Amino acid sequence: MSQTTIHSSLSGPQYDAWLGYHAALPGTNGATRTAAPLWSRLIDVQEHHPIIDTALTELKLGLRKLYGEEPVLCNAEEQNAEQKERNPAIRLGTWAGSESVVNAFTDAERSAVHGEGYLIREDESLHELVIGSETPQGILYAVFHLLRELTLNPGVTSGKADSTLNVEKRPIAFQEQPVNQLRMINQWDNVDGSIERGYAGRSIFYENGEFSQDLGRIRDYARLLASTGINAISINNVNVHKQESLFLTERYLGDVAKVAAEFRAYGIRLFLSANYASPIEVGGLPTADPLDQQVREWWNIQTAKVYAAIPDFGGYLIKADSENRPGPFTYNRDHADGANMLAEALRPFGGLVIWRCFVYNCKQDWRDRSTDRARAAYDHFKPLDGRFADNVILQIKNGPMDFQVREAVSPLFGAMEKTNQVIEFQITQEYTGQQRHLAYLVPQWKDVLDFETYAKGKGSEIKRIADGSLYQRPYSGFAAVSNIGADASWTGHPLAQANLYGYGRLGWNPELSAEDIAEEWVRLTFGHDEQVVQRITGMLLSSLDIYENYTAPLGVGWMVNPDHHYGPNVDGYEYSKWGTYHFADCHGIGVDRTVKSGTGYTSQYHPENEAKYESLETCPDELILFFHHVPYTHVLHSGKTVIQHIYDTHFEGAAQAEALAETWRELEGKVDPVIFDKVAALQEGQAEHAKEWRDMINTYFYRKSGIADEQARKIYS
Ligand code: GCU
Repeated sequence: MSQTTIHSSLSGPQYDAWLGYHAALPGTNGATRTAAPLWSRLIDVQEHHPIIDTALTELKLGLRKLYGEEPVLCNAEEQNAEQKERNPAIRLGTWAGSESVVNAFTDAERSAVHGEGYLIREDESLHELVIGSETPQGILYAVFHLLRELTLNPGVTSGKADSTLNVEKRPIAFQEQPVNQLRMINQWDNVDGSIERGYAGRSIFYENGEFSQDLGRIRDYARLLASTGINAISINNVNVHKQESLFLTERYLGDVAKVAAEFRAYGIRLFLSANYASPIEVGGLPTADPLDQQVREWWNIQTAKVYAAIPDFGGYLIKADSENRPGPFTYNRDHADGANMLAEALRPFGGLVIWRCFVYNCKQDWRDRSTDRARAAYDHFKPLDGRFADNVILQIKNGPMDFQVREAVSPLFGAMEKTNQVIEFQITQEYTGQQRHLAYLVPQWKDVLDFETYAKGKGSEIKRIADGSLYQRPYSGFAAVSNIGADASWTGHPLAQANLYGYGRLGWNPELSAEDIAEEWVRLTFGHDEQVVQRITGMLLSSLDIYENYTAPLGVGWMVNPDHHYGPNVDGYEYSKWGTYHFADCHGIGVDRTVKSGTGYTSQYHPENEAKYESLETCPDELILFFHHVPYTHVLHSGKTVIQHIYDTHFEGAAQAEALAETWRELEGKVDPVIFDKVAALQEGQAEHAKEWRDMINTYFYRKSGIADEQARKIYS
């Protein structure tokens, strides 16, 4: 019973994350067990499949942790009605593999779900709970759903031998279908064990040029991901260096296959980031020209070798002609030529090319104000709409710049109706506090997903482009850069787990609210003490606004230190080649992206949005400096001038960061002590660092503008 995880030697609440299965009753701190549902002691499964075996292992583990007793296997078919009544059970299986499960649902019910979708139903007479799906993956997702439900709502099932709980009892019944098809995680791990933009320790995948031998840790990661609905992962950095280019070869393929097996057990398909110049660097060819016959042949042969080792390999994730990575431009070819060549190599095996659109000029001259990095992805890819092969998917970052705390949404969403697309988010907090500051990102992702593009009139939200429904595309979905590492809490900041959890849940169903996801995560992770639930949920939900308050103002972005991107440096990127400028002078600040007088970026949106952003009258305050260069005295819709807004938000943000630390301190003794100490130290650090941000930004703009704070607060001169 002391065993808390199933695969790794690491354990404890921070490692268990949201799969700790606290059986706490509402109002307790986790000490009390709820009574077990009647059907929770027996499991009837007559099918054999690796993923169903996983589902069974998870179900047994979860029920044992929830109710203190490990269920045993039975065969309900062999029991008569009386025995069934005496021995209620959970019955699970797929339509093809389990006739008795099929018979538990009507034709109409079964046809309402397909693929990874599932049905869960507690039988009216309370003799059983049945789980059915078309696929083993569906069964696994259903098991995680059931366990989540039992943890979140202890006592809710009517099949419970417990009359003391004052909650409404109802039969459990769920019908679920994932909204997005591809629900993918991108690791940015390097084979030396480092992680690009990783803030939670070293890689769990690699060390010193070799694959990690601790497959248990990888399996534990797979179960965390699968429990939120993730079904695909690329396991190496999109910047594919020399050594990682060999992942496609005999040197590493055996290791890749072992990792693929761990993920396969949890229904997660493995992808690799591949180096576009592999034919040269690995194959020894003189060129990587996508139209060269030898190059094409090289990819065909190499890809066949990958599939020989990993028959269900997902495909290649490609960063090409981006930030100094090689690509088809070298050969005067375009992205479609490059992607389609790989698509041809992958097609016979059902593989996909995921081609990133993060393409821009990273050798810009800061003196040149006409080149606008925000325009780049659209300018490069929009003309190629319709030219990509069917098994190519473009992966588009949520914004046109790079995962800032606030930026516009990418105008590429809604611009390419003949192209498969997935949206890319960044769970790792590169520009949002690097897991030293608290920033719950789900509200930002929700805003992006709910954004109305007007691509086909009203109802053309980005979520409908991401899920493939607007353009009826064969492939679509979500991708995101992971935030985990070898830290015992997975995410460095234990509360940053909420972002990984939230990403998975949102990928499954983008209609879930940021509030519900936050509360769900808190209850699963910390139990049901109402004070704990309210405080931590409140901290999460306020955190992104707080972070935005004390960092770069009004959508202009950046203002961080070059390279590592942590901490304030207002002019850190102002005179650099990266195309990320704020153009502050003594009169004003912001980037003029209008058609009228600026870079013309606003024209990349559909007319309704173009008009909204083009005009100072209608441009939302929070994006004013993203779209316009305005004087410090410009009055916002809020009634404040830009300069006063900067001062106010920075004083407020630093005070709010202090308050976050105080709120957390109130939870001492109410949450796991290891987590308590870790978060307490991080929140203290954030509060201190927020003051640094406040003072640097306020002083910078006071010096530039010469305008005093209306409230005469302390601004260093
Ligand atoms: C950002 C990040 C890089 C990363 C790049 C990408 O620029 O700082 O580390 O490689 O995004 O998404 O490819």
